[in-house]
Amino acid sequence: MKNNPGFNTLAIHAGAQPDPTTGARTTPIYQTTSFVFNDADHAASLFGLQAFGNIYTRIMNPTQAVLEERVAALEGGTAALAVASGHAAQLLIFHTIMSPGDNFIAARRLYGGSINQFGHAFKSFDWHVRWADTADIDSFESQIDDKTKAIFIESLANPGGTFVDIAAISAVAKKHGLPLIVDNTMATPYLLRPIEHGADIVVHSLTKFMGGHGNSMGGVLVDGGTFDWSKSGKYPMLSEPRPEYAGMVLHATFGNFAFAIACRVLGLRDFGPAISPFNAFLLLTGIETLPLRMQRHCDNAMAVAKWLSAHDKVAWVNYAGLETDANNALQKRYSPKGAGAVFTFGLKDGYEAGKRFVEGLEMFSHLANIGDTRSLVIHPASTTHRQLSPEQLTAAGAGPEVVRLSVGIEDVADIIADLEQSLSKV
Ligand SMILES: Cc1ncc(COP(=O)(O)O)c(C=O)c1O
Repeated sequence: MKNNPGFNTLAIHAGAQPDPTTGARTTPIYQTTSFVFNDADHAASLFGLQAFGNIYTRIMNPTQAVLEERVAALEGGTAALAVASGHAAQLLIFHTIMSPGDNFIAARRLYGGSINQFGHAFKSFDWHVRWADTADIDSFESQIDDKTKAIFIESLANPGGTFVDIAAISAVAKKHGLPLIVDNTMATPYLLRPIEHGADIVVHSLTKFMGGHGNSMGGVLVDGGTFDWSKSGKYPMLSEPRPEYAGMVLHATFGNFAFAIACRVLGLRDFGPAISPFNAFLLLTGIETLPLRMQRHCDNAMAVAKWLSAHDKVAWVNYAGLETDANNALQKRYSPKGAGAVFTFGLKDGYEAGKRFVEGLEMFSHLANIGDTRSLVIHPASTTHRQLSPEQLTAAGAGPEVVRLSVGIEDVADIIADLEQSLSKV
């Protein structure tokens, strides 16, 4: 590959070589739990982190390693760690950053599962979330105190489909010496690369557009290599000697990819949410067509949003790609190639009409996922976001009348025909 290959080239080649033993051109599925050591010294150096290499698939696997290198290249990071799901990646990130009693600031407009993970599950670790509003940058800064360890946002929020001013929030994070974590699941690096706008860590549910075919769970965290983990003394897992590695200081030893290493050798090793080699293979295959799929997703979604906006049974359409949308300026600035494939709209007749509409669709699948090749639909208030209070529902952009579409890559005429036949019955 030439120096500085383009995004399309990286999506196909980054991290991969023909298999040295067999010549296999596609990355093989290394379906093995463990790897033979050269000798006892080699084993000792792998366990002591003096050498990189495969030991056991809970910690690292060659198929997984290609996936990690590819996503790190696409995001412009120094290293990545692939795990079993997006939620597992989030858990490992916070485990590396937080101590009991600490807090972090997170945008209110998030995937409902993240709102649950942060607001409920994390409490049992004594980690506390403080919710902020991405339309009011001061609401992030005003809640920071000496126990605050990070800021978390989605670049393009699910389910509302709204872009966030990453640079403005990054400025707050930098002013207070905090890492900015950006969930880039909905945008993907094809549309937007958060590290270029000041993010320090990027996280994905690979389950969605990255894999893109609705067939495999996976998650990844990408180390931007931008954050100084030693400066404040607030991140002891990275800046203090680790007893399990003979007193090694991870940041001092691994420099600008220490965060990804810490998530692997402390979080993944001990909590164990490893990705299966088979899923890593399917996700890698999906990523090869990411640029083609993402552009078609965006073009189809734009056509559908315009068509819905003109329909007399539709009360409103929230799609950042529409010139009239309040979020259009941020979309043009952060994601000029398109506004993504997931957006919400409301039917004039509210909750009941929304339910009937979802049930009347024939080609759209009614299910709890986004980012499949197929067009998908859901009613967030009764499904993905049902644990939220009425106030949280509205704040998350998932009020009772809201329908969410994830527009697929079928022929757009067929997508619109399905919407039309169901709307005619509402
Ligand atoms: C934006 C976003 N982040 C994170 C997740 C969690 O990912 P996973 O389901 O792979 O754990 C999801 C899942 O829908 C999501 O939409």
